[in-house]
Amino acid sequence: LVAGPLAGKRVLVTSGPTHEPIDPVRYIANRSSGAQGTAIAAALRDLGAQVVFVTGPAQAARPEGVEVIEVETARQMRAAVLAALPVDAAVFAAAVADWRVASEHLSKIKKTKGALPVLEFTENPDILAEVAQLPEARPRLVVGFAAETDDVVAHATAKRARKGCDWILANDVSPATGIMGGPDNAVVLISDEGAEVWPRMAKAEVAARLAQRIAEALMA
Ligand code: C5P
Repeated sequence: LVAGPLAGKRVLVTSGPTHEPIDPVRYIANRSSGAQGTAIAAALRDLGAQVVFVTGPAQAARPEGVEVIEVETARQMRAAVLAALPVDAAVFAAAVADWRVASEHLSKIKKTKGALPVLEFTENPDILAEVAQLPEARPRLVVGFAAETDDVVAHATAKRARKGCDWILANDVSPATGIMGGPDNAVVLISDEGAEVWPRMAKAEVAARLAQRIAEALMA
């Protein structure tokens, strides 16, 4: 029997980057390490939650004691997320690629003298927005992230409204902060109560604090 304030609650966490194929050997990716999402999954588990962890191809070691679903592309992540519903709460920490190559080449693109390949892009599904706006299976609490480099609170507040999620954890990822890929995070929690600035702390502490807040929200 699992004890803790989240015992009996099922929560979903997305994490890591996505890889969007160009051809069988090449892909588009981003620098997400999966560190913050992994820490959040572990913190929710530590409070007793049953955690479904949907991760792209991230460096971070997979958390123990959670259900891990490995995906590669945004479309696979969307399918895995929808299949994991219903959940009580969902945290979207993945850095999902905004675009994918419109027509993936089924064989390797050959190097041809004098002819450069041209890639055309198409938009990926916005998993957070879709889940936050589900008419029936919407989780009670939907949490998104917003990585911003300027006007953090204003941009994140607008993003929260646009996506329809309950909370946005906004972080300043300008290069000078050293947050991207680093051990610390400095976040602002945006909710319908406004913006709450958290001090800079280790990603594990951000995760513990968020998990605690999620527990309080689900108990309310
Ligand atoms: O719009 P933007 O990518 O800045 O929003 C970030 C938030 O939306 C993150 O929580 C991220 O996990 C989520 N997201 C998503 N699916 C996408 C793009 C972003 O779930 N295609």
